Amino acid sequence: MLEVADLRVRYGNLEVVHGVSFRAEPGEITAILGGNGAGKTTVLKALMGLVPTASGTITFGTQNLTRRPPHAIARSGLAMCPEGRQVFPRMSVYENLLMGAYLRSDAAGIQEDIEKMFERFPRLSERRLQPAGTLSGGEQEMLAIARALMARPALLLFDEPSWGLAPLIVEEVSQAIRDIKERGTTILLVEQNVQMALGLARYAYILETGEIAMQGSSEELIANSYIKNAYLGV
Ligand SMILES: Nc1ncnc2c1ncn2[C@@H]1O[C@H](COP(=O)(O)OP(=O)(O)OP(=O)(O)O)[C@@H](O)[C@H]1O
Ligand SMILES: [Mg+2]
Repeated sequence: MLEVADLRVRYGNLEVVHGVSFRAEPGEITAILGGNGAGKTTVLKALMGLVPTASGTITFGTQNLTRRPPHAIARSGLAMCPEGRQVFPRMSVYENLLMGAYLRSDAAGIQEDIEKMFERFPRLSERRLQPAGTLSGGEQEMLAIARALMARPALLLFDEPSWGLAPLIVEEVSQAIRDIKERGTTILLVEQNVQMALGLARYAYILETGEIAMQGSSEELIANSYIKNAYLGV
Protein backbone atom coordinates (compact mmCIF):
# COMPACT_ATOMS: atom_id res chain seq x y z
CA MET A 1 0.00 0.00 0.00
CA LEU A 2 2.73 2.52 1.00
CA GLU A 3 5.92 2.05 -0.93
CA VAL A 4 8.95 4.25 -0.40
CA ALA A 5 11.87 3.80 -2.79
CA ASP A 6 15.36 5.27 -2.39
CA LEU A 7 14.19 8.28 -0.36
CA ARG A 8 16.78 10.98 0.24
CA VAL A 9 16.22 14.06 2.38
CA ARG A 10 18.59 16.98 2.93
CA TYR A 11 18.56 19.91 5.30
CA GLY A 12 20.49 22.54 3.36
CA ASN A 13 23.59 20.78 2.07
CA LEU A 14 23.48 18.07 4.68
CA GLU A 15 21.84 14.80 3.64
CA VAL A 16 20.32 12.99 6.64
CA VAL A 17 18.27 10.27 4.90
CA HIS A 18 20.46 8.37 2.45
CA GLY A 19 18.30 6.36 0.09
CA VAL A 20 15.79 4.59 2.31
CA SER A 21 13.34 2.00 0.93
CA PHE A 22 10.49 0.35 2.82
CA ARG A 23 6.86 -0.73 2.55
CA ALA A 24 3.83 -0.63 4.81
CA GLU A 25 1.42 -3.42 3.93
CA PRO A 26 -2.33 -2.81 4.08
CA GLY A 27 -4.01 -3.65 7.38
CA GLU A 28 -0.70 -4.25 9.15
CA ILE A 29 1.50 -2.46 11.64
CA THR A 30 4.98 -1.82 10.25
CA ALA A 31 7.68 -0.35 12.48
CA ILE A 32 10.71 1.85 11.84
CA LEU A 33 13.11 1.62 14.78
CA GLY A 34 16.20 3.63 15.54
CA GLY A 35 17.99 5.79 18.08
CA ASN A 36 18.16 9.57 18.48
CA GLY A 37 19.04 11.36 15.27
CA ALA A 38 18.68 8.28 13.04
CA GLY A 39 16.29 10.21 10.77
CA LYS A 40 12.96 8.67 11.83
CA THR A 41 11.04 11.94 12.17
CA THR A 42 12.59 13.23 8.96
CA VAL A 43 11.27 10.18 7.07
CA LEU A 44 7.75 10.73 8.47
CA LYS A 45 7.87 14.44 7.66
CA ALA A 46 8.92 13.61 4.09
CA LEU A 47 5.94 11.23 3.80
CA MET A 48 3.60 14.02 4.92
CA GLY A 49 5.23 16.55 2.56
CA LEU A 50 6.52 18.63 5.47
CA VAL A 51 10.16 18.49 4.34
CA PRO A 52 11.21 18.34 0.69
CA THR A 53 12.23 15.02 -0.85
CA ALA A 54 15.63 15.36 -2.57
CA SER A 55 15.16 12.13 -4.54
CA GLY A 56 13.26 8.87 -4.49
CA THR A 57 9.57 8.08 -4.77
CA ILE A 58 6.64 7.75 -2.38
CA THR A 59 3.69 5.73 -3.66
CA PHE A 60 0.44 5.13 -1.80
CA GLY A 61 -1.81 2.60 -3.51
CA THR A 62 -2.07 3.91 -7.05
CA GLN A 63 -1.19 7.49 -6.07
CA ASN A 64 2.24 9.01 -6.52
CA LEU A 65 2.75 11.25 -3.46
CA THR A 66 6.30 12.31 -4.28
CA ARG A 67 6.66 16.10 -3.83
CA ARG A 68 2.93 16.59 -3.37
CA PRO A 69 1.92 19.38 -0.95
CA PRO A 70 0.85 18.41 2.60
CA HIS A 71 -2.87 19.07 2.06
CA ALA A 72 -2.91 16.81 -1.01
CA ILE A 73 -1.14 14.06 0.94
CA ALA A 74 -3.62 14.41 3.80
CA ARG A 75 -6.50 14.20 1.32
CA SER A 76 -5.11 11.01 -0.13
CA GLY A 77 -5.54 9.35 3.29
CA LEU A 78 -2.38 9.90 5.35
CA ALA A 79 -2.40 11.35 8.86
CA MET A 80 0.31 11.69 11.47
CA CYS A 81 0.37 11.51 15.23
CA PRO A 82 3.44 13.74 15.69
CA GLU A 83 6.47 13.50 17.95
CA GLY A 84 5.78 15.05 21.37
CA ARG A 85 1.97 14.92 20.68
CA GLN A 86 1.79 18.62 19.61
CA VAL A 87 -1.74 19.15 20.82
CA PHE A 88 -2.93 22.75 20.60
CA PRO A 89 -2.35 23.63 24.27
CA ARG A 90 -4.82 26.50 24.68
CA MET A 91 -7.62 24.85 22.77
CA SER A 92 -10.00 22.49 24.54
CA VAL A 93 -9.97 18.75 23.98
CA TYR A 94 -13.12 19.19 21.87
CA GLU A 95 -11.54 21.93 19.72
CA ASN A 96 -8.42 19.79 19.17
CA LEU A 97 -10.62 16.99 17.82
CA LEU A 98 -12.38 19.47 15.55
CA MET A 99 -8.97 20.57 14.20
CA GLY A 100 -8.27 16.96 13.24
CA ALA A 101 -11.23 17.14 10.86
CA TYR A 102 -10.08 20.36 9.13
CA LEU A 103 -10.19 18.77 5.67
CA ARG A 104 -13.72 17.45 6.11
CA SER A 105 -16.90 19.38 5.39
CA ASP A 106 -19.50 16.85 6.63
CA ALA A 107 -20.51 18.73 9.81
CA ALA A 108 -22.90 16.00 11.05
CA GLY A 109 -20.33 13.26 10.42
CA ILE A 110 -17.68 15.25 12.28
CA GLN A 111 -19.92 15.63 15.35
CA GLU A 112 -20.72 11.92 15.21
CA ASP A 113 -17.02 11.04 15.03
CA ILE A 114 -16.18 13.33 17.96
CA GLU A 115 -18.79 11.51 20.06
CA LYS A 116 -17.30 8.19 18.93
CA MET A 117 -13.85 9.38 20.07
CA PHE A 118 -15.32 10.28 23.47
CA GLU A 119 -16.77 6.76 23.71
CA ARG A 120 -13.45 5.18 22.78
CA PHE A 121 -11.42 7.45 25.05
CA PRO A 122 -13.60 8.11 28.12
CA ARG A 123 -10.85 10.10 29.85
CA LEU A 124 -11.06 12.62 27.01
CA SER A 125 -14.83 12.76 27.34
CA GLU A 126 -14.60 13.76 31.00
CA ARG A 127 -12.19 16.53 29.98
CA ARG A 128 -13.81 17.73 26.76
CA LEU A 129 -13.73 21.42 27.74
CA GLN A 130 -10.31 21.31 29.45
CA PRO A 131 -7.40 23.11 27.71
CA ALA A 132 -5.33 20.37 26.06
CA GLY A 133 -2.11 21.78 27.51
CA THR A 134 -3.30 20.88 31.01
CA LEU A 135 -3.79 17.16 30.21
CA SER A 136 -1.31 14.56 31.46
CA GLY A 137 1.21 13.14 28.99
CA GLY A 138 -0.83 9.97 28.53
CA GLU A 139 -4.05 11.94 28.03
CA GLN A 140 -2.30 14.18 25.49
CA GLU A 141 -1.11 11.10 23.58
CA MET A 142 -4.68 9.75 23.49
CA LEU A 143 -5.87 13.17 22.28
CA ALA A 144 -3.20 13.25 19.56
CA ILE A 145 -4.33 9.77 18.44
CA ALA A 146 -8.02 10.72 18.48
CA ARG A 147 -7.28 13.98 16.63
CA ALA A 148 -5.43 12.05 13.90
CA LEU A 149 -8.35 9.59 13.64
CA MET A 150 -10.76 12.50 13.02
CA ALA A 151 -9.27 12.72 9.52
CA ARG A 152 -10.43 9.10 8.92
CA PRO A 153 -6.97 8.14 7.61
CA ALA A 154 -6.25 5.01 5.60
CA LEU A 155 -2.62 5.15 6.79
CA LEU A 156 -1.71 6.50 10.21
CA LEU A 157 1.88 7.45 11.02
CA PHE A 158 2.97 7.40 14.67
CA ASP A 159 6.13 9.23 15.76
CA GLU A 160 7.31 7.76 19.09
CA PRO A 161 3.92 7.48 20.80
CA SER A 162 5.52 5.89 23.90
CA TRP A 163 7.88 8.82 24.46
CA GLY A 164 7.94 9.98 28.10
CA LEU A 165 5.12 7.69 29.25
CA ALA A 166 5.08 5.30 32.23
CA PRO A 167 4.96 1.55 31.37
CA LEU A 168 1.29 1.22 32.27
CA ILE A 169 0.36 4.11 29.96
CA VAL A 170 2.59 2.68 27.20
CA GLU A 171 0.46 -0.47 27.47
CA GLU A 172 -2.72 1.63 27.04
CA VAL A 173 -1.26 3.38 24.00
CA SER A 174 -0.24 0.00 22.54
CA GLN A 175 -3.78 -1.25 23.00
CA ALA A 176 -5.16 1.85 21.25
CA ILE A 177 -2.78 1.28 18.31
CA ARG A 178 -3.76 -2.40 18.09
CA ASP A 179 -7.42 -1.40 18.15
CA ILE A 180 -6.92 1.10 15.28
CA LYS A 181 -5.28 -1.63 13.22
CA GLU A 182 -8.11 -4.05 13.97
CA ARG A 183 -10.59 -1.47 12.66
CA GLY A 184 -8.77 -1.54 9.33
CA THR A 185 -6.31 1.36 9.37
CA THR A 186 -2.77 0.65 8.15
CA ILE A 187 -0.09 1.81 10.59
CA LEU A 188 3.51 2.94 10.28
CA LEU A 189 4.99 3.09 13.77
CA VAL A 190 8.24 4.94 14.48
CA GLU A 191 9.68 4.04 17.87
CA GLN A 192 12.79 3.93 20.04
CA ASN A 193 10.95 1.56 22.35
CA VAL A 194 11.95 -1.57 20.42
CA GLN A 195 10.27 -3.94 22.86
CA MET A 196 6.92 -2.20 22.47
CA ALA A 197 7.17 -1.76 18.70
CA LEU A 198 8.18 -5.36 17.96
CA GLY A 199 5.28 -6.47 20.16
CA LEU A 200 2.91 -4.60 17.86
CA ALA A 201 4.43 -4.78 14.39
CA ARG A 202 4.50 -7.69 11.98
CA TYR A 203 7.54 -6.37 10.11
CA ALA A 204 10.16 -3.80 11.09
CA TYR A 205 13.04 -1.78 9.67
CA ILE A 206 16.06 -0.64 11.66
CA LEU A 207 17.15 2.88 10.71
CA GLU A 208 20.73 3.85 11.60
CA THR A 209 22.21 7.23 10.59
CA GLY A 210 19.79 7.65 7.73
CA GLU A 211 20.05 4.13 6.29
CA ILE A 212 18.11 0.90 6.71
CA ALA A 213 20.63 -1.28 8.56
CA MET A 214 18.39 -4.33 8.94
CA GLN A 215 14.83 -5.48 8.34
CA GLY A 216 12.71 -8.50 9.07
CA SER A 217 9.61 -9.86 10.73
CA SER A 218 9.28 -8.99 14.41
CA GLU A 219 9.98 -12.63 15.33
CA GLU A 220 13.20 -12.62 13.30
CA LEU A 221 14.38 -9.35 14.82
CA ILE A 222 13.56 -10.34 18.41
CA ALA A 223 15.67 -13.48 17.91
CA ASN A 224 18.54 -11.61 16.21
CA SER A 225 21.67 -11.29 18.39
CA TYR A 226 22.60 -7.83 17.07
CA ILE A 227 19.12 -6.51 17.89
CA LYS A 228 19.25 -8.19 21.30
CA ASN A 229 22.57 -6.51 22.13
CA ALA A 230 22.10 -3.10 20.53
CA TYR A 231 18.38 -2.48 21.01
CA LEU A 232 16.88 -4.83 23.55
CA GLY A 233 19.66 -4.65 26.14
CA VAL A 234 19.69 -8.41 26.66
N1 LIG B 1 15.24 21.27 10.48
C1 LIG B 1 16.44 20.69 10.51
N2 LIG B 1 17.54 21.32 10.06
C2 LIG B 1 18.75 20.73 10.06
N3 LIG B 1 18.98 19.47 10.50
C3 LIG B 1 17.93 18.80 10.98
C4 LIG B 1 16.61 19.35 11.01
N4 LIG B 1 15.77 18.44 11.55
C5 LIG B 1 16.52 17.35 11.82
N5 LIG B 1 17.81 17.56 11.49
C6 LIG B 1 18.92 16.60 11.63
O1 LIG B 1 18.58 15.42 10.94
C7 LIG B 1 19.01 14.27 11.64
C8 LIG B 1 17.83 13.33 11.86
O2 LIG B 1 16.90 13.95 12.73
P1 LIG B 1 15.48 13.31 13.07
O3 LIG B 1 14.73 14.29 13.91
O4 LIG B 1 14.85 12.87 11.82
O5 LIG B 1 15.91 12.04 13.92
P2 LIG B 1 15.05 11.05 14.79
O6 LIG B 1 15.44 9.67 14.40
O7 LIG B 1 13.61 11.40 14.70
O8 LIG B 1 15.58 11.33 16.27
P3 LIG B 1 14.79 11.32 17.68
O9 LIG B 1 14.61 9.89 18.06
O10 LIG B 1 15.71 12.03 18.61
O11 LIG B 1 13.49 12.03 17.49
C9 LIG B 1 19.64 14.76 12.93
O12 LIG B 1 21.05 14.76 12.77
C10 LIG B 1 19.12 16.19 13.06
O13 LIG B 1 20.04 17.02 13.70
MG1 LIG C 1 12.20 11.98 16.04
